[in-house]
Amino acid sequence: MRVGRTPYRSIFLDEDSWGVRVVDQTVLPHRFQLLRLESADDVVRAIRSMVVRGAPLIGAAAAYGVALAVRADPSDASLEDALERLAATRPTAVNLRWALHRMDEVARDLPPELRADACYREAASLCDEDVELNRAIGGHGLAILHELAVGRPLNVLTHCNAGWLATVDWGTATAPMYRAHDDGLDIHVWVDETRPRLQGAALTAWELGQHGVPHTLIPDSAAAHLMSKGEVDVVIVGTDRTTALGDVANKIGTYPLALAAADNGVPFYVAAPSPSIDWQTEDASRVPIEQRDSDEVISVRGLGPDDAVGVVRIAPEQTQAVNYGFDVTPRHLVTGLITERGVCDASGEGLRRLFPEGEGAPGSEAS
Ligand code: MRU
Repeated sequence: MRVGRTPYRSIFLDEDSWGVRVVDQTVLPHRFQLLRLESADDVVRAIRSMVVRGAPLIGAAAAYGVALAVRADPSDASLEDALERLAATRPTAVNLRWALHRMDEVARDLPPELRADACYREAASLCDEDVELNRAIGGHGLAILHELAVGRPLNVLTHCNAGWLATVDWGTATAPMYRAHDDGLDIHVWVDETRPRLQGAALTAWELGQHGVPHTLIPDSAAAHLMSKGEVDVVIVGTDRTTALGDVANKIGTYPLALAAADNGVPFYVAAPSPSIDWQTEDASRVPIEQRDSDEVISVRGLGPDDAVGVVRIAPEQTQAVNYGFDVTPRHLVTGLITERGVCDASGEGLRRLFPEGEGAPGSEAS
């Protein structure tokens, strides 16, 4: 997508064809800065510190992390070590496990001297596929938005950042919005600020602004009120892990949004590319929910009067805080899953109809 007039992807190979460039998401929207990653350690740090975040981008970055590791040392031990350390970075997004499995499959049986080239190629195609999956999700979501169009600006609400910054390009939840805007459909997006890390305020609002999509930032607590006043026509969010039965783990605050949508008769869609479907898990209570540092709750990051990006405390010094990164929205609250192969019910049958091959499905056939 565009930054100013320049098209960007959130991750790409540097000019020397081995270092990896990413957008530093910890300083947006105040600074647009690219960082260069040169080792698996760099990638581990970037994922942990949320320089890169969002389920599909975590997977893409991890894929390049494996390529960087075997470039430095193509031995079995180095490959194993990189896979293990990258897998331990963040627990909830299943795309990470999926991408690492894919890299392992490519590298494992090759002679060490062939591994680096093969891994770079695989990471690049995983990224290209991600773009195509999201473009396809955009097309299916666009059809939904056209159906809902009401002769006034269509109000779409989203949570967190499931935008191009969270993927390689387009985003998942935002792809239908970008496609609709480019198609001339009159849309307006309510952007949940998304405490505690404020991905909505810092990232989604910035992205939409760069692309010229009309939007308004709201505190998370305002979403239900807007729905009750008829000011939300549809909710579209992303997913970090959709179980084989259609329950959706996504950024904390998604579940209450789905409850409010159900109570107000607002359609609630989840943009779910196949690499974020966990075919091995049916029981949603088994989805690992990340718990993050409580500092993220007792402080906020922003631009200070000295024009420096910093953190300020907002709670009394001794206050304890709890910081769950994700929640699970039960499938009965989800109107539909927008996948790259079309829209389905949030159910085991719905998913199997679109992906009869189950585990073999991810990433292969964007339509
Ligand atoms: O903690 P984050 O910022 O990585 O969480 C991101 C989300 O919850 C997104 O909605 C999800 O990863 C889908 S991104 C296409």
